[in-house]
Amino acid sequence: PTERAALKDRIRRLLKEKNAVMVSHYYVHPDLQDLAEETGGIVSDSLEMARFGRDHAAQTLVVSGVRFMGETAKILSPEKTVLMPDLDATCSLDLGCPIDQFSAFCDQHPDRTVVVYANTSAAVKARADWLVTSSCALDIVRALKDAGHKILWAPDRHLGAYIERETGADMVFWNGACIVHDEFKALELELLKKEHPEAKILVHPESPAEVVALADAVGSTSAILKAAREMDAREFIVATDNGMMHKLRTLNPGKTFYEAPTAGNSATCKSCAHCPWMAMNGLADVARVLETGANAIHVEPVLIPRARQPIDRMLAFTA
Ligand code: 13P
Ligand code: SF4
Repeated sequence: PTERAALKDRIRRLLKEKNAVMVSHYYVHPDLQDLAEETGGIVSDSLEMARFGRDHAAQTLVVSGVRFMGETAKILSPEKTVLMPDLDATCSLDLGCPIDQFSAFCDQHPDRTVVVYANTSAAVKARADWLVTSSCALDIVRALKDAGHKILWAPDRHLGAYIERETGADMVFWNGACIVHDEFKALELELLKKEHPEAKILVHPESPAEVVALADAVGSTSAILKAAREMDAREFIVATDNGMMHKLRTLNPGKTFYEAPTAGNSATCKSCAHCPWMAMNGLADVARVLETGANAIHVEPVLIPRARQPIDRMLAFTA
């Protein structure tokens, strides 16, 4: 505890010295969430992380999350320094959607509007017409459908299928998944619900369709937080990365939160409700990168203007 406290003090001091601000995702360690908020930064979903990073005056951003979040911040503010605790913190969706194959897929469907999830590389974004996160995907695809567009969707097949069911849009899909949400199990979830019949079920739409079908509320991390605060219930079962529990519990002290079941056994499950890449973010690395300037995000300058277009569209749509 004393070492943690000393690291936090060092980070607070360094943030001031370097005119830097911290932006953390809800899935990173509670220390990094609390420190971001306490020092004038933000803990939020991926959409608000992007907006906050763009709008904040600080010239250095420390992004605690995964690589696509740092890259999005850099694309929106190429003049800023964007530091990340660990540059190897990636995402199964990003890894599963390499630009060459994705580009060939787009070429096969020239009549479709290309909508990609934020969890992608800068090169994939540069091939897209629209960027979306889970908090705005439904509204954006609905608006595109109403305007007569057919959609090419990548990379998360569960989120894509959810949006197709909700909007009735004409969509073709890339076959990607989040290794965390893909593990939630409907049968086990029903059993847990039987143990807690009053509990409301909150589900992130990166989860499989059978899990989404059991939900009382479906949405992004910020939508899950909102539902937990606003729903008239004392108990909740939550199907998303368990990093989310920190904010859910601190903001709702009178309510009880249970983790939705995964495969249930760490020997068989690739990632039991906690993202291994989000878990790579730590206090010592935040202090180190602030001190040394190491781990600055670099995005190929030639990609930036093109990758920025779909992000700007999303931010304008949701403003
Ligand atoms: P949101 O915070 O946008 O819901 O994204 C979830 C996620 O998996 C980020 O890695
Ligand atoms: Fe990617 Fe899933 Fe990890 Fe989010 S939780 S960064 S979607 S692997």
